[in-house]
Amino acid sequence: MIRNAVDSDKSVILNFCHNTFSWGDYIQDVWNSWLSEDNLFIVEKEHPIGMTHAFFSKNQVWIEGIRINPDFRRQGFAKKLVQHVELIAKEKQIPFSFMLIDVKNHKSLSMAKNLGYGIFQTWNFYSLLPQINNSHEIQFGNSFDQSKIPHYVKSWRWLPLDKKTILYFYKQNKIIFSDKSGPISIAVLTDSEHFDKILIVTLISGSLSNTLDLILYIQNYGAENKYQKIQILTRAKLSTINTLEHKITFNLMKKSLV
Ligand SMILES: CC(C)(COP(=O)(O)OP(=O)(O)OC[C@H]1O[C@@H](n2cnc3c(N)ncnc32)[C@H](O)[C@@H]1OP(=O)(O)O)[C@@H](O)C(=O)NCCC(=O)NCCS
Repeated sequence: MIRNAVDSDKSVILNFCHNTFSWGDYIQDVWNSWLSEDNLFIVEKEHPIGMTHAFFSKNQVWIEGIRINPDFRRQGFAKKLVQHVELIAKEKQIPFSFMLIDVKNHKSLSMAKNLGYGIFQTWNFYSLLPQINNSHEIQFGNSFDQSKIPHYVKSWRWLPLDKKTILYFYKQNKIIFSDKSGPISIAVLTDSEHFDKILIVTLISGSLSNTLDLILYIQNYGAENKYQKIQILTRAKLSTINTLEHKITFNLMKKSLV
C-alpha cells in the first residue's frame, strides 16, 4: 500500500495538489527534486491517493509535503504514511522527527497531535524586498555562542546547525551578526534549492536595533546579488519593522522516536 514514488505518479498526484491551500500548492515545483533525492513515498488504493517526502539527517527526520486526495481523507492514510517514515527513521536509530505546520492548518495540526507530535517552537515567515542601501553595520563570523542558533532553514527544512556547517557558511560570509546594542542578533543566509534567486534567511533576533542592522544588510545583499525575493524565518515577532511583510506563522512540530 505504501511504496517509493516513480516518475509516472507525478501527474496523478499533481491532479489533486493544485488548490490544496488558499494560495495553491508547491508540490509541482519540488516533485522532481524530491524524487531524485529519494524517500518520496506514495500511498495507493488502486491508484496513488497520497504522498509525503522524508529527509533523513544525522539526528532527525524531516517530514514534508503530506498530501491526501480529498476523496480519501479521514481514512487513516496520512497516519500510515507518517508511521511508515517514522519506522524507517527508527531503523536508522534517528531520535527525532520534525514537521512544519501553518498555525491555521487545524486538520494537519490535529493529525500531528494524534500521531504524538508536540509544538516545539513557533516560527514567523516574513518577506523582504531587496533594496540597495549602504547604512548597515554588521559583522561576519562565528565568534558567538553557537548554541544560540541550533537549527537553520535550508530550503524550508529546519536542519541542525553543527560546527562543520557553521564553518562552511562562515567561509562564504553567510553567517552575519550584530551585537552593537543589547543582545546579539544572528542570521544565516542560504539559497533556495528549488526556486531560482530566492534568498532564505534564518534570523535569531536579540535586540530590535541589532536585528535592524542585519535586515538592512540582507536587503542590500539581496539587491546586489539580484535576488527576486527574500524569505526570513524567525521566532521573533518583528511587526514593528515596516520593511518586513508578515506572511505565515508556523508551528515546528517535534516527536521523540526513542
Ligand atoms: C492533513 C491531511 C494530510 C490529513 O490526511 P488524512 O489521511 O485525512 O488523515 P488521517 O485519516 O490519517 O487522520 C489521522 C488523524 O488526524 C486527525 N485529522 C485528520 N483530518 C482531520 C480533520 N479534517 N479534522 C480534524 N482532525 C483531523 C484526526 O485525529 C485523525 O484521526 P481520526 O480520524 O482517528 O480522528 C489531509 O487533510 C490533507 O492532505 N490536507 C491538505 C494538505 C495538508 O494540510 N498537508 C499537511 C501539511 S503539513
